[in-house]
Amino acid sequence: MNIYIDEAGQSARLDSGTVSYVLEVVDGKYLVHRYFGPSLRRWHGCGTPVYYKRAYSTAHDCSVPNVSFDDFPFEYPARGRGDFRIPSLQVQRQDGISVVEPLFKSWRVLEGKPGIPGLPSVFQGDTDAATLEVICEDKQAGLRVYMYYSVFEGMNMVARHQCFENTGTQTLVLENVQSASLELPARSYEFLSLYGTHAKEANRSRFALHSGIQKIESVRGSSSPQHQPFFALLSPGTTETSGEVYAMHLVYSGNFLAQAEVDSFGNVRAQIGIHPEGFAWRLEPGGHFATPEAILNYGGSGLNSMSHGFHRLYREHLMPRHFAETMRPVLLNSWESMYYDVSMDKIETQAALAARAGMELFVLDDGWFRADNSSSSSMGDWQCNLEKLPGGIRRAAGIVHGKGLKFGLWFEPEAVCKNSLLYRKHPEWVLHIPGYEPVEGRHEYLLDLGRQEVQDYLVGVLDSYLGSGDVDYIKWDMNRPLTDVCSLALGPEQKGETAHRYILGLYEVLHRVTSAYPGVLIEGCSSGGARFDPGMLYYVAQNWASDNTDAFDRTVIQDGFSLLYPPVAIGAHVSITPNHQTGRYTPLDTRYQIARLFNLGYELDLTKCSEEELEMIAGQIAEHKGERAWMQGGIFSRQEAPNRNYMVWSVMGPDRSQCQVMVFQKFYDPLCCHGRFRIQYLDPDTSYLETGSGQIYGGDELMQIGFTVPLVKEDFHAFTFHFRRLDTEKMPPVNSNQFRSGILKRGLNPPPDCVIF
Ligand code: GLA
Repeated sequence: MNIYIDEAGQSARLDSGTVSYVLEVVDGKYLVHRYFGPSLRRWHGCGTPVYYKRAYSTAHDCSVPNVSFDDFPFEYPARGRGDFRIPSLQVQRQDGISVVEPLFKSWRVLEGKPGIPGLPSVFQGDTDAATLEVICEDKQAGLRVYMYYSVFEGMNMVARHQCFENTGTQTLVLENVQSASLELPARSYEFLSLYGTHAKEANRSRFALHSGIQKIESVRGSSSPQHQPFFALLSPGTTETSGEVYAMHLVYSGNFLAQAEVDSFGNVRAQIGIHPEGFAWRLEPGGHFATPEAILNYGGSGLNSMSHGFHRLYREHLMPRHFAETMRPVLLNSWESMYYDVSMDKIETQAALAARAGMELFVLDDGWFRADNSSSSSMGDWQCNLEKLPGGIRRAAGIVHGKGLKFGLWFEPEAVCKNSLLYRKHPEWVLHIPGYEPVEGRHEYLLDLGRQEVQDYLVGVLDSYLGSGDVDYIKWDMNRPLTDVCSLALGPEQKGETAHRYILGLYEVLHRVTSAYPGVLIEGCSSGGARFDPGMLYYVAQNWASDNTDAFDRTVIQDGFSLLYPPVAIGAHVSITPNHQTGRYTPLDTRYQIARLFNLGYELDLTKCSEEELEMIAGQIAEHKGERAWMQGGIFSRQEAPNRNYMVWSVMGPDRSQCQVMVFQKFYDPLCCHGRFRIQYLDPDTSYLETGSGQIYGGDELMQIGFTVPLVKEDFHAFTFHFRRLDTEKMPPVNSNQFRSGILKRGLNPPPDCVIF
């Protein structure tokens, strides 16, 4: 891995060992993009465009003959000087002019990976990393742009962000400052993104990119369940294991814009960053502004190659370090068993059954502070309702701890009800437009998190619970989009900063809480997966993926999120049947199989389970504890299914000595029974024992021929197969009678000596 700047200082090549990124300075001043893709040994100037003199087109001041700015591959394009495609930068000057043209000034290589003050970003961790800093400047406007590109040894990604400095004497208003702009050569691409809604998050959308602009966005104040702040441009026909993937993911939790433009010549410009709508940042002379970070990912062999890169980067260089290595506890969440109707008796009974089943954490969800059993009251005051819970949270925590479980508590810190004491005392603390009644969402207004006093209040509330040591885990919820985006703390000229300041304030509160209590596990949640993004993942070690706990629907939701996030970050619970959201019946084993490759938890009334079900749950948990040490750090892949009736996931241990394969059969369908399941990423030169059947297969057979699964007369059926690598023929002979054939016998690993957080 290295970053090379040529002797003349006119080109720079970043090389991680797996990807390269090349920049060039044209005519001594224009910074252009030359390449992003598989690692290059060197760059000799290959790929310089053929410039062609065009009419109705401009290139006012470039000495290179025939250049037209219509298709010039600007690295960080601005509007107004001849490039009419989507701009990455728009600035309003005090003199009313809204054109800036930052030109190349200098570059240098920095060791390691710098952080971004006030914003989450990937950190260096234990991997070698280097950063290219490029400075461009518009002296006339008084604007300097610092552009950062970081590469990590052996990783197929580039992390980018920009910082802006006002070096002049006029105030500048940043109206559009994208985190990354990327020029891709004229080829055919498909546009992949994740769309959804509450309780149906992370569905794939895929279509052929065509002439013009295609975009996804959020203007809801959070990254939203409607679109993940991510898109990828794929070579046509890309599958999980083949095809080229150019992806962008934004490390940010607020409004975003992600778009691609195909120009008249077929060239593609891709961008991601804060949404310019609702954003106007006032940069006073001497002031600085940093954009969120964008992760550019190149996967040369299908979607899994992109996912493997994101998973590793986020696990090792983004998520809280404290939880990188610790085993995630199996939890029981109270929401679907108690909803708002919580009581000490229920807590005690559920915690006792949870402990008996081997669970490790009991989470008291919503309801504990509500005056009644609904969402309409008390939000914001965070005082326990002592009529529901005599003795308060301290006693509840004591009961749970007494059963040998950790204790977790639900909060929705950003929201406040109209009838709360807090709102009566500080109506000015909520986002609202003077003269208008603020819009309610789930009976809530939102606090103006940009205000220092609101941040202090929230840190104080959380401190009052965490400081006692009673609470080991927080579920950090947020249940509505931002409306009335107006802060009374900001003057008229700064109102356009409100939405971004809200997110900066959120990050500040999370920073203060996680710094003070690094051992408290925080699970992010926003009506499920409505604010599941890399920005939040910097502070929270896991995220509740969806309020939809139906196993069948979860196959799609978790599969979608797995494109980007390591499974350990994706909360997946076994719930009751019929499912509360869909009314669907699925077998208990299926519910478990769908959850177990992710961050396993339970969310059901254990008193409603039969003895047999409780025993099954205990067996599942014992099995999970035996395998999570390697599964949580393992390599998750989506395997190609032989037909659409199946979905196949696998997790390979980090040392590749074992592999768990989950096959989900959607429906009983004799027409679909002849499929073979080919498993990629095994070692073709070794043999594998399938521990359920005792059958031995060559890695090459499993990869090329595939194994078959029986046709089970059941809808929503899941199988899991555990392949253990046989390195030598010295392995003890396998007596297949040792293994119950079929599906349920697993857990050959002794529970490892592992640390539970
Ligand atoms: C949101 C969360 C749920 C639950 C409820 C409680 O909807 O996504 O998991 O915590 O709030 O009100």
